[in-house]
Amino acid sequence: MLSDRIAIVTGGASGIGKGIAMVLAQRGADVVIADTSIENATDTARAIEKLGRRSIALETDVTRRASTDAMVSTTLSKFGKIDILVNNAGVGGGREWWTRSHSNGDDWDRAYMVNVMGIVHGIESAQAHMKERRAGKIINIASTAGRRSVVGFVHYSASKASAINVSQAFALRLAQFGINVNCICPGLLWTPLWERISERRQSHLPPDQRLSPREYFLAQVKQQVPLGREQTPEDVGKLAAFLASDLARNITGQSINLNGGSVKS
Ligand SMILES: NC(=O)c1ccc[n+]([C@@H]2O[C@H](COP(=O)([O-])OP(=O)(O)OC[C@H]3O[C@@H](n4cnc5c(N)ncnc54)[C@H](O)[C@@H]3O)[C@@H](O)[C@H]2O)c1
Repeated sequence: MLSDRIAIVTGGASGIGKGIAMVLAQRGADVVIADTSIENATDTARAIEKLGRRSIALETDVTRRASTDAMVSTTLSKFGKIDILVNNAGVGGGREWWTRSHSNGDDWDRAYMVNVMGIVHGIESAQAHMKERRAGKIINIASTAGRRSVVGFVHYSASKASAINVSQAFALRLAQFGINVNCICPGLLWTPLWERISERRQSHLPPDQRLSPREYFLAQVKQQVPLGREQTPEDVGKLAAFLASDLARNITGQSINLNGGSVKS
């Protein structure tokens, strides 16, 4: 399905990004893992090599355009082209955001810089190459929280609503160059990010009244997800692989929910 395609996955070292990278590799792509955590990124790259695909880890900070420029130029010098860019890197907020129940200024700044500008930087760095080839698949990871604001996590919800909007704008701008830009809005996935959300949501409770992070997460799944099950990084990877393939050649500018039915719009 993706034989000989070259993909970059930002934030590919853990959680959803790792799931996407593994599924793209299983379907034939070579994958660049671009992440601030070079140690975890290297582990993911080694796991991809075990699948028989090529992979490198690149220390990348998507909040800095110079860093995404370097990500693109190193990918081109190692692999010669970029077919797929997945802008997945994301954060829940500023420093130790999970220890407080209300957003502070650092949460707003950090969510905007990583969750919104991270997408903008990735696309702006890769678009010249994709325009020249008149081909490219760009997939941005937003969130169900971008569809419906989450009380107490408004800086994050606002950044994800912006990610959806930015994806539509780039889809319109890049369509004339044969480049598809789509967005995935995942729901509830058990990753390091959600482990911290569980802590944040319960930070106002006395320790003896708190559920374990996993118990709290499963209670949310039960309460919010009509299909009654959590979503997985592999689920997101399968949708990303479809959007990156020729099967999706006429799909662009779309934001697709992957949330077991928890929101309708
Ligand atoms: N977990 C969920 O339930 C869920 C739901 C909806 C959307 N999302 C979104 O999916 C994406 C991945 O989330 P996750 O749950 O896997 O989180 P995670 O914390 O497990 O992984 C995020 C990855 O991004 C990397 N990263 C953070 N800041 C970066 C930066 N400035 N530059 C490069 N890499 C950076 C981290 O090192 C980490 O490897 C995020 O955009 C998140 O908002 C997650």
